[in-house]
Amino acid sequence: MAFLVALNGVGVTQNVPQRQMTNARRRNQELHVINTLQCWRTVSECRKISVEKQRHGTKSEMYRRGLQELDDSGLVLDACQDIAIIVGFLAACSYLLQDVRKAASNSLQMLTLLMYWSRATEAVRSAGSLYARIINETRNTAILQSILQKSPTVNPRLECPEFHFGGGAVEFDDLSFSYDGHREVIKSLSFTVKAGQKVAIVGQTGSGKSTIFRLLSRHFDPSHGRILVDGQDLCHVSLDSYREVLGIVSQNTILMNASIRENVAYPCFDASDEHIISACKAAEIHETIMQLPKQYDQEVGGLAGKLSGGENQRLVLARLYVQDPKIVLLDEATSNLDGTTEQKTWALLNTFCRGRTTFIITHRLSTIQNVDKIIVIEQGAKTEEGTHAELIANGESSYLASLKAQNSSQVWS
Ligand SMILES: Nc1ncnc2c1ncn2[C@@H]1O[C@H](COP(=O)(O)OP(=O)(O)O)[C@@H](O)[C@H]1O
Ligand SMILES: [Mg+2]
Repeated sequence: MAFLVALNGVGVTQNVPQRQMTNARRRNQELHVINTLQCWRTVSECRKISVEKQRHGTKSEMYRRGLQELDDSGLVLDACQDIAIIVGFLAACSYLLQDVRKAASNSLQMLTLLMYWSRATEAVRSAGSLYARIINETRNTAILQSILQKSPTVNPRLECPEFHFGGGAVEFDDLSFSYDGHREVIKSLSFTVKAGQKVAIVGQTGSGKSTIFRLLSRHFDPSHGRILVDGQDLCHVSLDSYREVLGIVSQNTILMNASIRENVAYPCFDASDEHIISACKAAEIHETIMQLPKQYDQEVGGLAGKLSGGENQRLVLARLYVQDPKIVLLDEATSNLDGTTEQKTWALLNTFCRGRTTFIITHRLSTIQNVDKIIVIEQGAKTEEGTHAELIANGESSYLASLKAQNSSQVWS
């Protein structure tokens, strides 16, 4: 029996690396499926469907082989166990039979041995499978633990006081930020925005504009310095209470895989149908929705992206109108719209944002000439700040240079 227990222990322990490798192959195959489905347009447009099929086939085959090897080694272990049980049983029987023949034991003891043997082997088998499960789950727990130990990009600090909105005055105080702890993407940035003002942030692609929005919406905490909103350090107020006053429209917002109604009402589940419809009318998307087979119940979003980029963006604007936030961040919010719709949308946005602190990132400099302040960012640092009139008065201004370049083809984005 001791040999059987040892055999079980050795068999299960030896299986561990094989099981881990098979799990890794399964994850590899699943990740490949997710990645190719997410990028299915690129795969198709680059004529790589057959390549990805082949890769999927190779990864699936490796996973299948891993499973097969695990099964095979399980069968070998079972066979060894069965042989050990039979040999042990025969040895015990022959020993007892000799005793019975010598009248040292009786048939009752023989019966006891038979019952003991079947019970004991059953117990050893289930102990073996329990041991295998424990080893497997211990490994899974270690993976889960390593995920749980990853530090979040922001500390939600649930115990922090609530954010109290007091008009929406914003101050960046000597703020620096790095995504990876090495390259500074934002460098010693300081500026102030009064409550209700409109501010445009402009600069070359990759200069750090969207990163400023990510810091303002607290997807990341600064590496150095702080952001004060109405005098409250964003790192020391509860995240949810702050985000409640914040409305964000980004260039590449992905819609939820749900109906148009649910998508537009996502920030306020209790928004009435009238509210949703009037928001969609304001965002110039109502007519398009009414032409869809299921109108407001039409499913959109998900990996396939069932609406055009412009329609997507207008739905996100409708969502902003439903949310009715106090501070608005617009990151290339109209970049996917055609010229006429873009002009109309800016007229609406200007009305909507009146009195709300608004940050605008846009490549179309003509749309920000009336804002209260323009901040020019180059490689993460502020190089210019002022109104449109102040900036163009400076003949050396890079803002002025870009404004002139927009008449040709080079624009900021
Ligand atoms: N999640 C990220 N991790 C690491 N680097 C990033 C990340 N997001 C952006 N960056 C880098 O930070 C810099 C600024 O990016 P971003 O703020 O998006 O620029 P933009 O001015 O075009 O909006 C770029 O060099 C970009 O490669
Ligand atoms: Mg950007």
